[in-house]
Amino acid sequence: FHLLRPSINENKTTPTTPVSNRQHINCSHQQLSPEERRLLDSIAWTKTPHVPVPVSLSTTSDPAHSTFTILLVRAGGQWHVGDELEALIQICDFQGRPKQFGGDFLVARLHDQTLGAGVAGRVVDHLNGYYTAVFPLLWEGQAQVEVTLVHPSEAITVLRRLNMEHPDRVEYKSVFRSGSVSETMVCNICLPQNQPLCNYTDLHTGEPWFCYKPRNLNCETRISHYKGRVSQNLMDKEETDGIDKTCVLVFLNHWLYKKMVLDFPEPAGYYYQGAWRALGGATVHQFNDASAISQCLTDKVVHMYGDSTMRQWFEHLSRVLPDLKVINLHSSTQCGPFMAVDTARNILVKFHCHAPPIRSYTVSSIKLGYVSNELNWLVGGSNTVVVFSIWAHFGTYPVEVYIRRLQSIRRAVQRLLDRAPETLVVIRTGNLKALTLDVALSNSDWYSLQRDKVLRDMFKGLKNVHLVDAWDMVLAHHLPHDLHPPPPIIKNMIDVLLSYICPPKNG
Ligand SMILES: *[C@@H]1O[C@H](CO)[C@@H](O)[C@H](O)[C@H]1NC(C)=O
Ligand SMILES: *[C@@H]1O[C@H](CO)[C@@H](O)[C@H](O)[C@H]1NC(C)=O
Ligand SMILES: *[C@@H]1O[C@H](CO)[C@@H](O)[C@H](O)[C@H]1NC(C)=O
Repeated sequence: FHLLRPSINENKTTPTTPVSNRQHINCSHQQLSPEERRLLDSIAWTKTPHVPVPVSLSTTSDPAHSTFTILLVRAGGQWHVGDELEALIQICDFQGRPKQFGGDFLVARLHDQTLGAGVAGRVVDHLNGYYTAVFPLLWEGQAQVEVTLVHPSEAITVLRRLNMEHPDRVEYKSVFRSGSVSETMVCNICLPQNQPLCNYTDLHTGEPWFCYKPRNLNCETRISHYKGRVSQNLMDKEETDGIDKTCVLVFLNHWLYKKMVLDFPEPAGYYYQGAWRALGGATVHQFNDASAISQCLTDKVVHMYGDSTMRQWFEHLSRVLPDLKVINLHSSTQCGPFMAVDTARNILVKFHCHAPPIRSYTVSSIKLGYVSNELNWLVGGSNTVVVFSIWAHFGTYPVEVYIRRLQSIRRAVQRLLDRAPETLVVIRTGNLKALTLDVALSNSDWYSLQRDKVLRDMFKGLKNVHLVDAWDMVLAHHLPHDLHPPPPIIKNMIDVLLSYICPPKNG
């Protein structure tokens, strides 16, 4: 049983606000549409009841006192490929007392390192301190169950509150300059409106973006964008005071089974001998050498948009393909634009980061392009591949902000597919990462999970739009969770991408 990161605990004191004279900030300036309301309902998380403030660490979920047991009952003690394996998880607090309510964020996988095999489990919350992890049995041989408590339910309460109260805790800045006068101002999607603002709301997409108005310069003199500091002192950590009592595992009752919902999603695939195999989707091919990849990409233009997890794909392709030459455009190191060409095979691969809120080093403000606007420039067609990944920089805002960004991208994708139905669109989902306390506050896996559900729902059922399920591919792999997954996982992701671009001839 693993704990990914220290528990987040609230103290009684009101969080210290990074901005003095803080005013109410409303990041969702519009009324909710029916779709937005439905999406918010679909990701509603179990509320932790009766949380006394301050939350005392001793009553929060403690992996050291929590246990799981593999259920033999159903399988009669043995399993066959094609069966399901279930593990019953009981969560206890630091004093060893069983938790009476749900809402903990758990992930689970079944794996065997010698076989290079792994699959993500589906975790069901029984809302009473018990959870079930369900795994399909997909390979013959050994397997080990691993359950990870990403956050105790109490931490989820804090994370949710932080997005309401401190949506601007990741700070952005812009430099304004005219002649010898220069000023640096704070910018964000939502700012307390207690001083004049420059309004950079995008006219095509309606995406809001504001900076405080410089004192001596006008709003047109903005020249750059970069990430500032991240407010850290929003809450206090309490110290561990665990009492060493073991939690008695109570055996499973029948009604627990009955509460299991049957329609939870199947895993997208699994690893076997280190290679990703899709379940219920297209066959994944191995593109093991440069010539196989180049052959697949011949005559293609691949447009990549998004965050650094998309840039990794660009970097991977330009590393493994010796004939794909990166052109030095003197771009910013993180945001691009980047371009790589193989003129002999007529391959062009491009990367451009998404618009604010992009957490980047200094980038020219005229290079901040919204993905949907970029898509509006594409003619599209059977030689065009669009790939994007937009998730990691939206964690600090209310989900509505992310929903609206995706709605505008979806509209652009639909227009693109209407004018050029042969265009292939591939979306890389979010993934789990290594979490320190600081990272959790701005980029917790719980934020990613919530947004990931929205992303999948938003693009579900669109023809010629495919997913690379980075979430499952990172969770199922034996390598540690990482915002930027290590090369073996990236190689598998690229195999999935290339399998969409170059599907097998007979199926
Ligand atoms: C947290 O709360 C406890 C109990 O109210 C208090 O004793 C402690 O000083 C607080 N910690 C901080 C850093 O404010
Ligand atoms: C934000 O503004 C919208 C539209 O005016 C309103 O419907 C919503 O309730 C507001 N949210 C909060 C937290 O005040
Ligand atoms: C910002 O500009 C947009 C587009 O012109 C407008 O709809 C919106 O009301 C403006 N917001 C503020 C706070 O001025």
